Amino acid sequence: MALGKWVVTSKLCLVLFSGQGFFYAVSWRIKNYIRQRRERMIDDMKEQLEAIRAEADAELSAVKDAKALDALRVKFLGKKGALTAILKQMGKLTAEERPVMGQLANEVRTFIEEAIAAKQTEITRLEMQARLASETIDVTLPGQKQSLGSLHPLAIVENEIKEIFLGMGFEIADGPEVEYDYYNFEALNLPPDHPARDTQDTFYITDNILLRTQTSSVQVHVMENQKPPIRVISPGRVFRSDAVDATHSPLFHQIEGLVVDKGITMADLKGTLEMLMKRLYGPDCKIRLRPHHFPFTEPSAEVDVMCFGCMGKGCRICKNEGYIELLGAGMVHPKVLEGCGIDSSVYSGFAFGLGLERVVMRRYNISDMRLLFENDYRFLEQF
Ligand code: DAH
Repeated sequence: MALGKWVVTSKLCLVLFSGQGFFYAVSWRIKNYIRQRRERMIDDMKEQLEAIRAEADAELSAVKDAKALDALRVKFLGKKGALTAILKQMGKLTAEERPVMGQLANEVRTFIEEAIAAKQTEITRLEMQARLASETIDVTLPGQKQSLGSLHPLAIVENEIKEIFLGMGFEIADGPEVEYDYYNFEALNLPPDHPARDTQDTFYITDNILLRTQTSSVQVHVMENQKPPIRVISPGRVFRSDAVDATHSPLFHQIEGLVVDKGITMADLKGTLEMLMKRLYGPDCKIRLRPHHFPFTEPSAEVDVMCFGCMGKGCRICKNEGYIELLGAGMVHPKVLEGCGIDSSVYSGFAFGLGLERVVMRRYNISDMRLLFENDYRFLEQF
């Protein structure tokens, strides 16, 4: 053993002290130094990766909400994240070292990704739990009363009248509330100087355009656009420059009726209105036609309905008349038909105009028209 050691040492001295030996020794030391540095660099990278894994693990356990989790994802896996910074150093590695480091880096990435996903699931579950806890409903608590609206009495009766006429084969026509003088007056045989215009003063937009005073204007629109047979009603708002009182309002409602066909007579008018009133006020209701004048009908009539308070005997409601005036009606004036391009020698027609407020007031025994427009809740909730 002692002899062997001596032989080796003397050989080494021989190598070292020859010139070649010295060169070997130096280059060996340099190679050794480089190898050690590489190993240290790789160890460093490994340590850094492990540190990232540990840091992510520690921080993840402290995360409580989705926002913090997202910030953590960016910090570790983002483009400027810790892991990416390490991966950028991979270029310095040799072809043999790279797969080893790559594998470790991938392991760390997978670890962090899986941990984040698990945390995400947990956060979602916790959030859901919190929501369920905070949104529990005590079904035994008394409910909050929802106050449902109801139809206005004007709408209730208008709908009823529409139903009655639809049942008789009528259609519903509509017309503008802002109207030309021509449709509201002139085409209805009320030229500019006609005295009947005075009773229907209205609101003028220009000399020629006004708020309609009567739904009769729709008659003209319908006859201009439709060939007989015509059977329409047209409910709508009308306007007059009247002061407000118990029986007057600058805005009120009418329902116009128009029938044009061959052989239409006054009997058709009376039959139709009788049917309407019986449906509105009961089968015992009677109507009465009184001669009157309207420029757009000839002959014209005012139609009274039997007072439902006294059934025709006379009482306070009907001022002892037994009947109450409800609407105007008549046979369409030939001039109006001709003006709308309808041959009055072939066709005839009847028309009527019903004040909706009057019908509603009679129906519900309302004595002051203002109640219908004031929108007082105590009044409206009775319907
Ligand atoms: N338009 C009339 C008014 O407002 C009511 C009226 C009367 C309409 C006779 C008609 C009718 O269609 O034929 O006073």
